[in-house]
Amino acid sequence: MPKPIDELIVQETGLVSREIFVDEEVFKEELSRVFARAWLFVAHEDQIAKNGDYVVSKMGTDTVIVTRDMEGEVHVLLNTCTHRGMRLCRNDMGNARTFSCPYHGWSYSMDGRIVETPGDLAGVPGHATYYHGELDKKDWGLVRAPRVKVYKRTVWASWDPEAPEFEDYLGDMRQYLDYALDGRDGSPGNNEMIGGILKWRVPSNWKFAPENFIGDNYHDISHRSVDLVGINPSGGTGRRDDEPDDVTTLGFPKLGHGVIGEMPYFAEPEFQPQWQTNPEVAEYYRQSHERRVERFGDEPRVSMTVGTIFPNMSFHGRQPRTIAVFHPISPTEMEMWRIFLVDKDAPDAVKDMARHYHLSYSGPGGLTESDDMENWSYATDSSRGEISRSIYFNYEMGLGHAREVPHLEGAVENGVFTEENARIFYRRWAEFMKAASWRELHPGVGPGPKPGRLIPTKSARQAEEKRGES
Ligand code: FES
Ligand SMILES: [Fe+2]
Repeated sequence: MPKPIDELIVQETGLVSREIFVDEEVFKEELSRVFARAWLFVAHEDQIAKNGDYVVSKMGTDTVIVTRDMEGEVHVLLNTCTHRGMRLCRNDMGNARTFSCPYHGWSYSMDGRIVETPGDLAGVPGHATYYHGELDKKDWGLVRAPRVKVYKRTVWASWDPEAPEFEDYLGDMRQYLDYALDGRDGSPGNNEMIGGILKWRVPSNWKFAPENFIGDNYHDISHRSVDLVGINPSGGTGRRDDEPDDVTTLGFPKLGHGVIGEMPYFAEPEFQPQWQTNPEVAEYYRQSHERRVERFGDEPRVSMTVGTIFPNMSFHGRQPRTIAVFHPISPTEMEMWRIFLVDKDAPDAVKDMARHYHLSYSGPGGLTESDDMENWSYATDSSRGEISRSIYFNYEMGLGHAREVPHLEGAVENGVFTEENARIFYRRWAEFMKAASWRELHPGVGPGPKPGRLIPTKSARQAEEKRGES
């Protein structure tokens, strides 16, 4: 390592060394200490809808096969033949009961009637003759991720058997992820993928993307051009329909996750018309709002625009509604993946409009993402030099002004313009880089560092008032 972790991430002053974005040794360490331990997003269930369906995904720099076996169970298997390392599956996706290696023909079955555990070695050419029946097939099945979780149609995995339960890993951040994965009316897990998945490479360190997603209202100047073009789905200016009027930057210091969203509230804010360039679509969202009001009553709920689940999955919850994953390739290159979501039971007009809108917003051809990629790529490149890599980035905006959040365990908020969530992201990254095991990483909750005053935001105050009146 170029420096001890506490000198790379200086929490007291909000400084972050540029080495962590360009250094080979740091990169190697984060693959084993972060990516081999954390829960990682690997697929959406629409990619493996039927028994035998598979999709090739990534966990860190490893490629994995995410597959649904013949009984419907989901497995995450390392995509390399256990014999002599050939990449077993070279398609992106498909349907297969057996994976046969093109090198010497070892085959692995996904059928529990043929092998004890799907993914086990089923056939070895010459087993009885050249191997004299001595190779024990049970020992040479595909390497599998020991922890797999299907959550509201998304699939997650961890290489670490000691990783906490996925729900504990999310903590109260779960409510914000639910906002994106539930239907617009709050119906649980009501989402489907629009079309396929977009993948593209960016000459940037992977960490810029997930921390930028949750902490960077400050960089609106980058998006000036798209705001002028106006891709607003109601025909107005800007990138989106009106936002909830009370968003804040909210993060979970002990978990590393963060969000730009609203604090929990108990009565739905008044409906703001959306998607108005198509009356059928606008009406769908109005009715969804009414059903949402009815569904939740005075139960607490949240809304949000963008969030990150540590380490490398971010999501838009509202407009657009997407999942983004940032796969490390090298210190200075990543592969970005983007999935677009829409209510599963929405009419075709709603799905069609969402598809057009999402494509103009996100992805390599989207008008917004290209602004961000430009910043991250140049920040990576301009930190590679012998002199530039020795200096620090400044993340001190709002340092020491975080406040506890009522109703969300372990969360702090720090207003709209702050680098609090980036500091939270790097704080957690440093913990992962230092910890010997999950026993030290404790996904536990509790107040973050230096909480200040407890100030409910406007919607929380209004909700309290409303409850008082009723
Ligand atoms: S490398 Fe796969 S069968 Fe030999
Ligand atoms: Fe941006």
